[in-house]
Amino acid sequence: MPSATQRDATVVSPDATVVSSEGQRRASLLRQQLLEPNLAFLMEAHDALSARVVEAVGFEGIWASGLSMSSALGVRDCNEATWTQILDVLEFMADATTKPILVDGDTGHGNFNTVRRFVKKLCQRNIAGVCIEDKVFPKMNSFIGDGQVLADIDEFCGRIRAAKDSQLYDDFTVIARVEALIAGKGLDEALRRAHAYCDAGADGVLIHSKMDVADEIVGFVGRWQNRAPVVIVPTRYYRTPTSLFQEIGISLVIWANHNLRAAVAAMMHASRVIRRTQRLIDLEPEIAPLGEIFRLCDYEELDHAEARYVSRAPVVGRGELTLG
Ligand code: SPV
Ligand code: MG
Repeated sequence: MPSATQRDATVVSPDATVVSSEGQRRASLLRQQLLEPNLAFLMEAHDALSARVVEAVGFEGIWASGLSMSSALGVRDCNEATWTQILDVLEFMADATTKPILVDGDTGHGNFNTVRRFVKKLCQRNIAGVCIEDKVFPKMNSFIGDGQVLADIDEFCGRIRAAKDSQLYDDFTVIARVEALIAGKGLDEALRRAHAYCDAGADGVLIHSKMDVADEIVGFVGRWQNRAPVVIVPTRYYRTPTSLFQEIGISLVIWANHNLRAAVAAMMHASRVIRRTQRLIDLEPEIAPLGEIFRLCDYEELDHAEARYVSRAPVVGRGELTLG
């Protein structure tokens, strides 16, 4: 399968910026997932390696989680990482994969103007879509505290319109994330906001809830009448069977932070075992062999490139390495 970069061709966007058709290809895939009747799933990644893992196991798309990318950088999910630092992470993730990436764009990092620049820069990195939440900058993770401050509806609609006007390819998706339930403002307010955001041009809404059952989501969808695709993040209501999400007509489910949490649990375990035993033999059978790392990062491609560009034969067949 050709890599993303091999497949790249450039086209000129409406504002005369040169962009890659690879971005449009990925955006079309995400749009398809959003619109098809079947439930689709995005799996969280927080760096290029975890994005490669998500792709390797067969997920059709990647959620670039703000919480996870921040945590992987060792900072808090309240815009402590700047948007250009996040952009650097996203560039590595997009370069390492071929599947569509939906970016957690937080609030859009400020106002309509930062949204414009952010969306343009995402498109230049072949990102398929962005989700922007109706809070104020700097945001705080939705599961922390009870004092979430919602944005003014009109102002947020301006951010949505700015995002749509700034996308460099047709199928780039802008999801409006409704935080009314998180802020304790109730279903009526959530619906009022969701309709306004779709009027402003959002391609779908993410309705977020911090309840440990899916009642708020079911209530929202019942009154939403399928106006636009609905995206959910069942982190807190994780006991709810996935079949219910299909039944009530959800379009896209985001497994939002599970690679990060799995990685932390695995790293804690590995570090503890090695610290305690002062040897490697106990842990070795439990961890990924080095060959897995080489496979994930496609060392084999370097063999092919070497064969093509270097006159002498490769020193070692990297793709053949089976260390561990
Ligand atoms: C994220 O993954 O960063 C999200 C989802 O925004 S949540 O943490 O549930 O707010
Ligand atoms: Mg987030």
